[in-house]
Amino acid sequence: ATTEIYTLSLHDALPISLAQSRSNMSAAEALKSVDTLDLLTELKRRVEMPPGKNIILIGPPGSGKGTQAPIIKEKYCLCHLATGDLLRAAVQAGTELGKKAKAVMESGGLVSDDLVVGIIKDNIKSPECANGFILDGFPRTVPQAEKLGEMLVAEKLGNIDSVIEFKIPDETLVKRICGRLVHPASGRSYHEEFAPPKVPMTDDLTGEPLTKRADDNEAALKKRLSQFHAQTKPVVDYYGKLGLYSPIDANQKADTVKAAIAAILK
Ligand code: AP5
Repeated sequence: ATTEIYTLSLHDALPISLAQSRSNMSAAEALKSVDTLDLLTELKRRVEMPPGKNIILIGPPGSGKGTQAPIIKEKYCLCHLATGDLLRAAVQAGTELGKKAKAVMESGGLVSDDLVVGIIKDNIKSPECANGFILDGFPRTVPQAEKLGEMLVAEKLGNIDSVIEFKIPDETLVKRICGRLVHPASGRSYHEEFAPPKVPMTDDLTGEPLTKRADDNEAALKKRLSQFHAQTKPVVDYYGKLGLYSPIDANQKADTVKAAIAAILK
């Protein structure tokens, strides 16, 4: 189970991953199929990349964490660990973890702390996280935040540099969530109105079909929002006391949100 989740989490870390995702070829075979210029461009980017960072994104469902995380990841060469994406991959793969998580996720509840802490532990030491990480959707409870702190110390993975909260009124989230389209393999998200794909229901990069998430409906959203206010808001206070917290106004155009994040991380 761990291997399946791990592989999916590294999906778009290198140009070769895209080639690999289209076939069953090995990493060595995939490497041969990548254009030399692409490979050198990627190497140059990595040599010139800014110093690493460990970042946490907190926000209610639909606030834009999954939209902004790939942009931050690209800029700072970090890994993007989204517990929701990792859990959905486990559900899709039919692993034991996925079987335990499926019904809870579809109803909008929270998966147990132990399961999600285990997922982060399995992924956070991967080579793609060597320059730092973005945690998206984790920690979602104070016990998860405490366990993350213990893990960083025990595994000598450094400190958290920044915790960014995406602030947005609940009432604006229904339209965002109910119009969302996702590419399951990469976690890329689109929106029917606000961020449509170039070809309807098709991922821009791979040409694969887009889908709707099982929990993207008004009933599950209501439960997800109430979980957020009850369980995740205290996580904001937890990091506030540690002096790591920065809020952003997420109720703006995606490019404006991107600029606000860049100003915090500069
Ligand atoms: P998860 O996958 O983490 O879902 P979530 O937190 O509810 O967040 P979303 O992915 O829905 O929102 P997002 O902020 O990423 O929004 P996006 O950028 O896509 O978790 C799912 C479930 O897994 C949980 O309910 C729970 O069961 C379980 N789980 C996960 N982590 C757990 C944990 N740590 N502990 C326990 N259980 C856990 O944007 C949404 C839409 O809006 C998109 O269509 C996008 O195109 C559009 N959009 C984005 N930005 C803008 C903008 N600025 N303007 C207009 N539209 C925008």
